[in-house]
Amino acid sequence: MNADIRIDAERLWSSLMDMAKIGATLKGGVKRLTLTDLDRQGRDRFVGWCKEAGLVVSVDGVGNIFARRAGRNNALPPVVSGSHLDTQPSGGRFDGCFGVMAALEVARTLHDRGIQTEAPFEVAMWTNEEGTRFLPVMGGSGAFAGAHTVEEILAGRDLDGVSFGDALRAIGYAGAAPVGGRKLGAYFEAHIEQGPLLENTGNTIGVVTGALGQRWFEVMVRGMDAHAGPTPMHLRRDALFGASFLIQEVNRLAKVTEHSRGTVGMILNRPNSRNVVPGETVFSVDFRDTDVSGLDRMEQGLRAAAAGIAREQGLNIDIRQTIFFPPCHFDQSCVAAVRAGAERLGFRHMDIVSGAGHDAVHIAGVAPTAMIFVPCEGGISHNEIENAKPDDLAAGCNVLLQAVLAKAG
Ligand code: GLV
Ligand code: MN
Ligand code: MN
Repeated sequence: MNADIRIDAERLWSSLMDMAKIGATLKGGVKRLTLTDLDRQGRDRFVGWCKEAGLVVSVDGVGNIFARRAGRNNALPPVVSGSHLDTQPSGGRFDGCFGVMAALEVARTLHDRGIQTEAPFEVAMWTNEEGTRFLPVMGGSGAFAGAHTVEEILAGRDLDGVSFGDALRAIGYAGAAPVGGRKLGAYFEAHIEQGPLLENTGNTIGVVTGALGQRWFEVMVRGMDAHAGPTPMHLRRDALFGASFLIQEVNRLAKVTEHSRGTVGMILNRPNSRNVVPGETVFSVDFRDTDVSGLDRMEQGLRAAAAGIAREQGLNIDIRQTIFFPPCHFDQSCVAAVRAGAERLGFRHMDIVSGAGHDAVHIAGVAPTAMIFVPCEGGISHNEIENAKPDDLAAGCNVLLQAVLAKAG
């Protein structure tokens, strides 16, 4: 009988729009960087809604928030669903927020109808999924899953030198609950696709079977500061000029196969003065692929190119790996629960591999996990114009409800 219940689509949409006001940008997006005062405001609103829905809230030592609804048998490990509330600097209204609001909507629906599941149900909000202010990306879920130590997470520093630990304390979300170390019965994460496949194929639901592997680097190019006028071209050791060749190489390497990706998204140039030949340039590299061999190929290509450019241009180039996740394959029984939910509700669906990283990728290492994708307009994400249709979001949330009921009993 519980299989017949549906979420409240209007409440889901209005919660999303309400949350989007916190950090709203002029172009209709959201800038709510992790562990800023705007993040605190978003968290406070979320926690308030959780309490209204009768959930018991706890916060762990890296600021992950869990909002629990008791089951009939509380000795069972909880079924958990969630995502993140932090955004990119030019973020949209749905990346992450949809997964948290969808999980909350499931809890609200159970609360309204007085439905008690056999296992407890928890809504999770993971800290710093985006990795834009602090590395590592997906840090809160990574610490929960034991991929990073708590000390490593707290020690991370932003570009102004502020530590993660200090920023977490400043917003009042350094919680007392232990980080991870407990069993989850299952984990589901709903998310916009952030790519064009669902829209292009006319599918409403993406049954996510896994995610691309990722390897990120920080590349430090060192040359020598010099005067832009008197220094002849052949005597220069221009770090930015050297970096420009490597940025081209990252893109070239990724274009070799259809399933490879290569991005340079962050660059710091020093001293960054108009009439100084730059002596130091630091940039990020984000490689993704369906296979570790693809990541290895791109890494080797980058290192070989760097050695050549360092030699030719008298530069010193250091390449340091900052992130690595192998390609991830979600749990077959959780994937089947998502597919069954989509079928039961009559939504057109397709299997899909996520190009983006998600908290689910870490949680998949410690709990049976799957994800649900819904289309977003033009496949555009990490952009203020990111958009999704209320009906599609409601469909994804209803599939989430079905999957949670299937696993929580
Ligand atoms: C997360 O936003 C990612 O980089 O895929
Ligand atoms: Mn996301
Ligand atoms: Mn994102």
